[in-house]
Formats: sequence, structure tokens, C-alpha cells
Amino acid sequence: MPPRLPVRCSLRRTIAKRRHLRHFLYFSFLLFLSFLILHLTSSILRRANSLGRCCSPPSPPTFLSSSFPCSKIAIVTLSDESKESEIYYPGAWKRRSFVGVRNAVWGNKKTYAEKMGYGFVDATTLVDRSRPPNWSKILAIQSSLRFYDWVFWNDADTVITNLDVSLESILFGLIGHGDIQSSPDLVVTEDLNGVNSGVFFIRKSEWSQRFLEKWWNQTSFVQFGSTKSGDNAALSHLIDHLPQEELQRHVIISPMQCLFNSYPWYPSWKSYHLLLSPMKTWQGVYSDGDFMVHLAGLDNKSGWALKFLQNV
Ligand SMILES: *[C@@H]1O[C@H](CO)[C@@H](O)[C@H](O)[C@H]1NC(C)=O
Ligand SMILES: *[C@@H]1O[C@H](CO)[C@@H](O)[C@H](O)[C@H]1NC(C)=O
Ligand SMILES: *[C@@H]1O[C@H](CO)[C@@H](O)[C@H](O)[C@H]1NC(C)=O
Repeated sequence: MPPRLPVRCSLRRTIAKRRHLRHFLYFSFLLFLSFLILHLTSSILRRANSLGRCCSPPSPPTFLSSSFPCSKIAIVTLSDESKESEIYYPGAWKRRSFVGVRNAVWGNKKTYAEKMGYGFVDATTLVDRSRPPNWSKILAIQSSLRFYDWVFWNDADTVITNLDVSLESILFGLIGHGDIQSSPDLVVTEDLNGVNSGVFFIRKSEWSQRFLEKWWNQTSFVQFGSTKSGDNAALSHLIDHLPQEELQRHVIISPMQCLFNSYPWYPSWKSYHLLLSPMKTWQGVYSDGDFMVHLAGLDNKSGWALKFLQNV
């Protein structure tokens, strides 16, 4: 008698094959669904403003042009593209590059500053090589603040995406009056990780001078060889440890991040952040019409900058 086993075996094999096929189809479907959801999410977020999100505080009165009447404002930035400034991820398989960003963004900032009558200072020559270049923003601001009432600090990887929005209108909207002397000194935004040191306003005052000095003195935060250089953590630390009264008098954290520091959203392994903090993502995501996009956390900075500049 021929053994029956092979028949049963091949039957079993067929069943197993079908099961594999089913699993494969199921998996493919899930994958497709995830792509679809991520894609949809991306286009919904991109349209946040037309879906009713409002980045600016209640619209300032019509005498807007008289807000901060004679204030002198400068956009200050620096961009270190030297070899040392390139950051390699562990294993050196990926690189975060700022190369080409300066060329891409310089004209954008210059055009805006000229249109609005602001100073524009590129403080790249002030980079202090004893720390990661991002720390030198403190030196850059200190050297400019002598000549202006307000410094609008911009990390290199930022693009002004709406040239019609004035800095005065942003400040006025947040502060609510146009009297420089009684204004707060530091105007920042918050993202998922807390205060962001990439884009902020700081006013010429004794408080600001001391604050910048204290910030520079936070040497224990200096960090080499990482995508984080520590300047942001030091700023968060300082703000977190200000006495409540001082904080209220001197610092404004914009209720909406998208007022002047929007981040692009794109499908990636970090997309789960959206589920953890949907509100923060919504408040900070770049949407058409926003004033400024900050390419925080992105590797191909110049590629992204050029993409955004196409629509300005
Ligand atoms: C910063 O450190 C320097 C040198 O240690 C010190 O002289 C200065 O008082 C410090 N400034 C502030 C504001 O803490
Ligand atoms: C410097 O700032 C940029 C812009 O916020 C950021 O993307 C980059 O990671 C920072 N670099 C370091 C070394 O922290
Ligand atoms: C960076 O982005 C640009 C434009 O999107 C693209 O042409 C280029 O290949 C990208 N470079 C890298 C290294 O991904």
C-alpha cells in the first residue's frame, strides 16, 4: 500500500501556501492603508490654515502701522558650512548637511528685510569654534543688539514663506501694545519638545543682556557630535528656572507655534508624534500662508529650502 502521508502533506502544504498568500495580501493591504493615511494626513495638515487654524492672535487694530513706531529691527542669522559643522549620525550612514542652505535662503531674507526696512545681519564670521556652531547665535545676537531695538534671530534653516507679514505685526499681536520700553524681552515659540531656540525675538534691554550672558554660561549643556548641540536645552533650562514673576514680565511664549516658526510635516518614522501630541502638531505644522518655515530635524536642508522657495 502506498503511504497516504504525501497526500496529506501536500494538502497541508497547499493550505500553508494559501495561508501565506492570505497573510501577504493582508500585510500589503495594511501597508497600502498606512501610506494612504499618511498621505492624507500630510495634505490635511498642509491645509491647516484654510481649515480654520488661526496662527495670529486676535487681529490688531487698524492703526497697525503705528505699532512700535520707530523701532529698529534686525534679522540676524549665521550659517556655518565648514566641514566641522557636518554632523554624522552614529555609523556615519547618514549626514545632516547645512551645505547650500546659505545660498538658498540668503536672497529670501535679504529681499524681505529690504522690503520691510529691517536690518539683515549675517554673523557667520563670529562663529566660535570651541563650541558647536549653533551656540554662536548668542554671540551674534549680542553683537547686533547694540544697534537695534529688536533682534529677530533666525537659524540658518529657515525660509520666510509669506513676505507680506511684518515683524511688527507679529510682536504687536502678541504683546498687545506698541510701547517698546514696557515690552517683554524675549518672544519664543514652543514645539513638542518645549521652547525652541531656532527662531525668536529678543529686545535690547539690560535683562536681555544678562539673559544672553547666562545662556552662554550654561557650559554644561554644550554637546559635540550630535544633531543636538545643547543650546536649545540650555535655553529651555533657563526659562524653566526663571521665577514666575520674572517669566511673566520678560518672556512671552506664543500660544501658536505657527505664528513665526512652523515645521514641515511629512510621513516618516516620527509620524507617531502626531498621535502623541495632535494639538501641538496642529499648532506648529507648516501650512500655506504661514510666515516662516523652519526645517528643524530635516537632513537635506538645501533641498527642502529650495522646495519652499519655489512657492514664495
Ligand atoms: C558668566 O560667566 C562669567 C565668567 O565665569 C562671569 O564673570 C559672569 O558673571 C557670568 N554671567 C552671568 C550673567 O551669570
Ligand atoms: C542647529 O540648528 C538647526 C536649526 O534649528 C538644527 O536643525 C540643527 O540640528 C542644529 N544643529 C545642532 C548641531 O544642534
Ligand atoms: C536634496 O533635495 C534635492 C531637491 O529636492 C534633491 O534634488 C537632492 O537629490 C536631495 N539630496 C539628497 C542627498 O537627498
